Amino acid sequence: MTLRVSQRAASVSPFIVMDVMRAAYEREIQGQHIVHLEVGQPSTSAPKGVIEAAKAALDRDRIGYVDALGIPALRERIAGHYRDTYGLALPPERVVVTQGSSGAFLLSFLSSFEHGDRVALAAPGYPAYRNILSALGFEPVDLLTDTDHKYQPTVDLLRRAGKVAGLIVASPSNPTGTTVSEAEMQALAHYCHVHGIRLISDEIYHGIVFGGEIVTAAACSDSAIVINSFSKYFSMTGWRLGWMVVPPDMLRAIECLAQNLFISAPALSQLAAVAAFDCKEELDGHVRRYRENRDLLLAELPKAGLDRLTIPDGAFYLYADVSHLSNDSRDFCRRMLVEAGVAATPGLDFDRQRGHGTLRISFAGATAEMAEAARRLQGWKR
Ligand SMILES: Cc1ncc(COP(=O)(O)O)c(C=O)c1O
Repeated sequence: MTLRVSQRAASVSPFIVMDVMRAAYEREIQGQHIVHLEVGQPSTSAPKGVIEAAKAALDRDRIGYVDALGIPALRERIAGHYRDTYGLALPPERVVVTQGSSGAFLLSFLSSFEHGDRVALAAPGYPAYRNILSALGFEPVDLLTDTDHKYQPTVDLLRRAGKVAGLIVASPSNPTGTTVSEAEMQALAHYCHVHGIRLISDEIYHGIVFGGEIVTAAACSDSAIVINSFSKYFSMTGWRLGWMVVPPDMLRAIECLAQNLFISAPALSQLAAVAAFDCKEELDGHVRRYRENRDLLLAELPKAGLDRLTIPDGAFYLYADVSHLSNDSRDFCRRMLVEAGVAATPGLDFDRQRGHGTLRISFAGATAEMAEAARRLQGWKR
């Protein structure tokens, strides 16, 4: 008898960047040198202090299951991070340690929404939000953002979306790197609170900001869920560790979900991550490099005809409007890979309606690679 794959699983869209990465590696196996501007992760390992703490923990600790909400030492250290970074007094009890921010999405969506609920989110935006929402039986509602509002949601867009149960905001955003100002975050948080909309703020790129202030939704609303991660600023993608700041009345429900879905987040990663907050010097060095990379590409890419770039306030992405060069971003990226040896991600991953005319360039790599990519693109005969 042929058993079926569930409709729920079969209808989940692919994460196109993963397909691009595979195509890029296949070309490398065939001997072509590729510059990777598609990868959305730091090119560096975890900071030295974290690696040392992990080695010490392996020698000392059993590395078993731990508390579903996270080990107390890490929850306290994360709460301290809010005091040090944002001047915010946060009880450690409101911090929940998760399997990356990806694990936090599952917990926050499941604990906030009922089956069929509509959830608003910016397009362009990180594709997994909508794919996870759909897989769980919720309905993603695109807010078609534009350059006027730095591709970020506004109260006006939200009002026009009709009845929604949630709003996902990402600042700095993937794929645009743009941020939400404090006034805008306050306005969104207020609107959401008054209208019974759960605000979920993805703050995974906090720390990677190129000047200017960055506001946490935790400072604007006690009913918002804040999500963050060790993956980006802390350069620890493979350690699969993140956290949430949750409203006190949601804590027990989230704890029960976490116990059943994950038992606990990885113990070794948690023990090591306590040291991450003491590694700022090393990590801020990465941020300086990202900034240098951004400035290099902003100066050089226009010479290659890629002159419609969103200037990112943070993260490590440039979102390029290439609609004057192609109306098929998948094909454009494929040709760029084959003919110029530069991998980038088609905008369709981030914006289903308008992404055929855009692409995302990641500048998380080495500065020499950025210079090489610019050189290749300037010489590319399209
Ligand atoms: C905006 C955004 N949120 C969440 C994630 C997932 O990160 P994590 O490794 O914490 O699961 C990513 C990864 O690229 C991202 O860009």
